[in-house]
Amino acid sequence: PETITVQELAKRMGERGADLVKSMFKLGTPVTITETIDRDTAELLIEEFGHRFVPVSEADIDIDTSIDVDADETLQPRPPVVTIMGHVDHGKTSLLDAIRGADVVSGEAGGITQHIGAYQVTLKDGSKVTFLDTPGHEAFTEMRARGANVTDIVVLVVAADDGLKPQTIEAINHTKAAGVPMIVAINKIDKPGANPQKVREELLQHEIIVEAMGGDVQDVEVSALKKTNLDGLLEAINLQAEILELKANPERAAEATVVEAKLDKGRGPLATVLVQRGTLNVGDIIVVGAASGKVRAMIDDHGRQVKQAGPSFPVEVLGLGAVPSAGDQLTVVENEARAREVAAYRQSVLDKKRTTSAPVSLENMFANRA
Ligand code: GTP
Ligand code: MG
Repeated sequence: PETITVQELAKRMGERGADLVKSMFKLGTPVTITETIDRDTAELLIEEFGHRFVPVSEADIDIDTSIDVDADETLQPRPPVVTIMGHVDHGKTSLLDAIRGADVVSGEAGGITQHIGAYQVTLKDGSKVTFLDTPGHEAFTEMRARGANVTDIVVLVVAADDGLKPQTIEAINHTKAAGVPMIVAINKIDKPGANPQKVREELLQHEIIVEAMGGDVQDVEVSALKKTNLDGLLEAINLQAEILELKANPERAAEATVVEAKLDKGRGPLATVLVQRGTLNVGDIIVVGAASGKVRAMIDDHGRQVKQAGPSFPVEVLGLGAVPSAGDQLTVVENEARAREVAAYRQSVLDKKRTTSAPVSLENMFANRA
């Protein structure tokens, strides 16, 4: 039977729940906001409020952006998105910090710049690279499983004094499964026990043939600590990016992916997103997973407010009504009613999943009967 709660209907109509309850009272059928009404009653209410009843199939409610493909002539080069992976303590964070210090724009390495889970560096030649702050293998796999494969290039960090370790191998497998090209950064070459050649040989056993061994996977010896050969690593990234010919249409409504999200006491829900195509603007009305809102402000990885964010640009977005999850897609919609509708629909799908997978107890058996 087709039913809907008063609350849900109010949300979709963009009206206040209390007003619907009042109206129902006038119609002589008092209900509470959490109660369910049937389709005929819902239609009556919709008319009463001067809205139009549009029957929608569930598939119509949600947004499927995969269908609109950008025409070739709209595509423009975009920066590569690079994820750094590797075993615990092999120097991922140190390497990221060192690279960030080499950023010719920010210069002031350390402290000042804030952490937003993703950042962009400008290289000497003016090209840009976006780095995802090591999301961990689980996050990488989870995002990939949800179709949110945002990584263009993986940099595999292997400590030259330690060689391949379980998480290195895991990272190799994830990268292969994702079909993402890899660059090997052999780190800690300053250490007395460093043996880069041994790393290359161990990689062979996992069918990774680096250039130094006659293969086509770029390998670069670095020291994050001594800041040795960071340029070499960045050049390797640049070269790989050129081969990939990464492009996106910057002149359309934005689509982005959530890299991380949290609730900030003062500022409310915050989502760090990576724009994949289009340009995100302050004032845009957005749906992000089951959350919706209006972009109130955007902050870049240097803590500066920005009005626009184009392809491969990571920004922190303020203005959502709820905290989304990593991997959720951000879509720009035409108006707030539409945003609420999509978000409410997605929330109801999530709720349904939760009820069906929850263990049966007296309480939720009762809830299911309602
Ligand atoms: P997790 O985030 O815990 O997985 O570690 P990580 O891979 O981010 O390693 P991190 O950058 O925290 O470095 C681990 C340790 O290795 C630290 O004590 C670093 O100072 C040290 N280290 C990192 N890079 C180098 C290097 O090039 N040379 C030397 N000698 N030490 C390094
Ligand atoms: Mg780390």
